[in-house]
Amino acid sequence: MTEILTREELSKAAGFLRENELVAFPTETVYGLGARLSSESALLKIFKTKGRPADNPLIVHVASIEQIEKIARELPPAFYKLAKTFFPGPLTIILKRSSHVSSLVSAGLDTIAVRMPSHPVAKELIEALGEPIAAPSANLSGKPSSTTSLHVLEDFQGKIAAVIEGGSSKLGLESTVINLTSATPQLMRPGHITKEELEAVLGEEIELCLHAKEGKTPSPGMKYRHYAPLAKILVFTSLDELLSYAEGQPAKKRMLLARQKIDAKIENGSFFPLNAQTLYANLRLSDRDRYEEILLFCDPETLSDAALMNRISHASAIH
Ligand code: TXA
Ligand code: MG
Repeated sequence: MTEILTREELSKAAGFLRENELVAFPTETVYGLGARLSSESALLKIFKTKGRPADNPLIVHVASIEQIEKIARELPPAFYKLAKTFFPGPLTIILKRSSHVSSLVSAGLDTIAVRMPSHPVAKELIEALGEPIAAPSANLSGKPSSTTSLHVLEDFQGKIAAVIEGGSSKLGLESTVINLTSATPQLMRPGHITKEELEAVLGEEIELCLHAKEGKTPSPGMKYRHYAPLAKILVFTSLDELLSYAEGQPAKKRMLLARQKIDAKIENGSFFPLNAQTLYANLRLSDRDRYEEILLFCDPETLSDAALMNRISHASAIH
């Protein structure tokens, strides 16, 4: 049985972590599947329980800068600039790893990804444990991330010790990931904090590094298919094209995803709003309710949202 704990029961949650068990917890982005950093057996459990490839490293969640200074080395001035502006918050920074930290967490890389979540439950849990928590998103590998405790239970009921109830995730998409170990800072995953906001604080340009380059994968997670629902996703940038596609096809059970309600009758189609907060919940719903096709309309505002478009392209494998 997986226990559902409240914010008042964080000492129990920390107790599970101390016993090398896994505990899922809310953050401002998505739910995380946590293990204590100093336990290799707990770290291995994360990979096994998620079905995560062994070469895909984890993010380490901390509650203070001091905790980062213990697990990373040669922190550059850029780190302190970013931390001052964006911590705690939805930003993950890749730094050089201290040699005493298990390379398991970094899947053998000599770097380490750190993030200081702003969600009070995440912060209090790390403080109650007294050490950093390694946590990928709390979903089976390849599935959409979890933005509610129910999603976590859908994937891990009976397989983890507990999930802490924290309602719906405020942002709904994973943190922005920036690499500070290269000559020029690299944006490895777009998120709520934008490239432009990071550049403004750093006072220099950031290189976009979202796809694996030949022979080298800067951020191993990028090479795996993500968030993929069973239904086929078709992405349209013209509403007319979407409507004429729908008319010309036999009427399958269709999910229509668009920022604004589509003002036209589409046979067998049900409308759901397209936004960062509910994208993953709707992709999960499409599996549960056996939608056969997802027709997704990207208006100019959606197209200009780098984080949302990145997840849409991963889910539909159009990148
Ligand atoms: O918002 C988030 O970041 C959530 C919450 C739970 O904090 N976590 C999350 O973790 O999205 P995960 O494991 O689903 O995604 C981590 C990403 C992966 O693409 C992984 O490859 C990359 O960060 N990553 C982690 N450590 C890295 C490292 N040392 N070097 C390069 N990429 C790294
Ligand atoms: Mg993930």
